[in-house]
Amino acid sequence: METTRKHIVVLVPLPLQGHLTPMLQLGSILHSKGFSIVVAHSEFRPPNPKNHPEFIFQPLSDNLSGFQATIGNLLDLIAAINSNSGALLEEYMVQLIEDQKLQGNQVACIIHDGLLFFVDSVATHLKIPGIVLRPSLAAFMQSYHYILQLHAQNLIPFPESRLLEPIPELYPLRFKDLPDKITFEIRKQLLDYFISSVNINSSVAIIWNTTDSLEHSALLQLQQHYKVPFFPIGPLHKIAAATSTSFLEEDQSCISWLDKQAPNSVLYISLGSIAIVDEKELTETAWGLANSGIPFLWVIRPDYVNGSPLEIVKALVGERGLIVKWAPQREVLAHKAVGGFWSHCGWNSVMESICEGVPMICRPYFGDQPVNTRYLTSVWKVGLEMESVLDRGSIERTIKRLMVDVEGKEIRQRMLAMKEKLEGGLQKGGSSYESLNDLTQFITSFSA
Ligand code: UDX
Repeated sequence: METTRKHIVVLVPLPLQGHLTPMLQLGSILHSKGFSIVVAHSEFRPPNPKNHPEFIFQPLSDNLSGFQATIGNLLDLIAAINSNSGALLEEYMVQLIEDQKLQGNQVACIIHDGLLFFVDSVATHLKIPGIVLRPSLAAFMQSYHYILQLHAQNLIPFPESRLLEPIPELYPLRFKDLPDKITFEIRKQLLDYFISSVNINSSVAIIWNTTDSLEHSALLQLQQHYKVPFFPIGPLHKIAAATSTSFLEEDQSCISWLDKQAPNSVLYISLGSIAIVDEKELTETAWGLANSGIPFLWVIRPDYVNGSPLEIVKALVGERGLIVKWAPQREVLAHKAVGGFWSHCGWNSVMESICEGVPMICRPYFGDQPVNTRYLTSVWKVGLEMESVLDRGSIERTIKRLMVDVEGKEIRQRMLAMKEKLEGGLQKGGSSYESLNDLTQFITSFSA
């Protein structure tokens, strides 16, 4: 391997869409700053090297062939990668460091997904600085810290009757917004996961795909805990080159369909790469959409639904809607025909929607999604939460509130103001812009 770029950054992504995308975007950004990028990735769901000819890709065989990632076994996937990949990464890194030394280059640091805990010990062992990338809202990490506090105080399982109570330390979150199952006994696997997730071991910095303007106080509080430099440089997708990072093929036909629709008239529906729905939810959604009279573009992934009611859905969709298996989402949200986004509120989708000024309907499923929803609906007030009983009536009502009513117009105005705020952060002198410059200098300083 030859490179004229002297400083090499090794990226280690988690092979889940919502985690891989921001890592590759970070790679593009650092490449544009003059670093050479090596992506050491799982053999399971590898990234597509053709989309990034400027990177060097190194697969790490992780014995996961045949693994079917589902919402139910994500912790198993994360645990398997963490236990299978350490020795391979270390072996590869030793070789890389040696090869590069001969060419007068230096491996500056390893940047890894915050859930790939094994990378930290490899970096420590080889005396290379390790940096964590957090692809979520900073407030979400605060909620992990809080769950561990509850656990230490023997307050889990938490009574369902208190779920709507606010948590003063985590305003605006309520107990019900905390990620995953505080009303149950925490299994050992989940507890270990929470502990490892908040722990950055010997990593020397944290990069956040968020901005100081959105999360000043959450970042400040976390900074007191971690005591390493923070680089909130988001939204990454607005700084990185617009290259596809999708595992699934993007169906471009939806763009020509959108071209034929009136401005702001279409509701875009996507629940990201992991969330699934049951047959009832799918058919109620189809009825609600049909009854609302609003045109829609709906992403139904091949693994999106338990059961097979797709025929009913297609019949209901008729002329007014289009269903695709996977969309070029950033292009869709930037299209002038799209007036609303019904989302599971994964953090990438949230940032992408804000950056295009598209108001949201929020229907969170797991993980950070309830936290993101709470911020969207009650702090920034740029989204409506879908009523908890999801039937065709509530769906129709919520869609009309966003797409037709005055309330929706006000929400759109607030979303446009938020878009401007984020854009401001990316301009010279803005918080993300400056933070990225600081990060560049920080990484360069390791191999000075
Ligand atoms: C997961 C978690 O669910 C999410 O809550 C967390 O913040 C990150 O990891 P995911 O569910 O896939 O991610 O959601 P999200 O973060 O929104 O990422 C999905 C990505 O896939 C987005 O970048 C989106 O643009 C892209 N996408 C989605 C497409 O390109 N096309 C589609 O049709 C749907």
